[in-house]
Amino acid sequence: MKIRIHPSILNANHEDMQAEFDRISAGGVEGVHLDIMDGRFVRPVTFDIPTIERYVKMSPLEFDAHLMIVQPEKHVDEYVRAGASLVNFHLEVTSDPAALIDYLHGRGVKAGVTINPNTPVQEMIGLAHRVELVLFMSVYPGYGGQKFIPEVLDKVRAFKRLCVSRGLDPLIQIDGGINLETAPLAVAAGVNTLVAGTFIFRSGDYAAAIGAMRKACANVKPDY
Ligand code: DX5
Ligand code: ZN
Repeated sequence: MKIRIHPSILNANHEDMQAEFDRISAGGVEGVHLDIMDGRFVRPVTFDIPTIERYVKMSPLEFDAHLMIVQPEKHVDEYVRAGASLVNFHLEVTSDPAALIDYLHGRGVKAGVTINPNTPVQEMIGLAHRVELVLFMSVYPGYGGQKFIPEVLDKVRAFKRLCVSRGLDPLIQIDGGINLETAPLAVAAGVNTLVAGTFIFRSGDYAAAIGAMRKACANVKPDY
């Protein structure tokens, strides 16, 4: 199955981002995963708007903005204006996800919804036909380099089965602890878009790491 790889730049070398973007582009990826944290939904605070605007100018790749922020409805426009072409927000902090999805579509960007490891997949199912992307967190958000939570794959399988039964085909993204061992498990469960941060940026050879991940997922047998 053709998978998409969106490196998370959270742990990239922010002193040399143009080179980092060039290296992941040369390695062959479909997007850049921007982990945006506000210090309230999760403890850390990451990229501010001027930084995102600078980064978007450094790469032609699609920027997928993962909003780990409270009150996303109040802030999504900033990320659209900064150049994100896909914005995903957490269902745990959104009272009217359908309205926010419509708003994002009205602003001409793709919309995604995200759930934490302990959030039931039922929250997401009713929105499956409205979004371009769903994101299953396979770690509790806030930090790169955490251990993959395998129980999340049961939710992915249930969601993928539902999509097949309804003829839906959104990007099914997973994020946190994705490496050569966990990526094929996720793809077998129905994931088609992999976020990997540590695995790529700590690899020493981004192209080799990206190629190895694609190879590891190439002939995976679905198990959903
Ligand atoms: C965690 C972030 C992840 C993380 C990537 O809150 O959403 O994208 O940076 O995780 P690793 O480094 O495990 O790939
Ligand atoms: Zn993320």
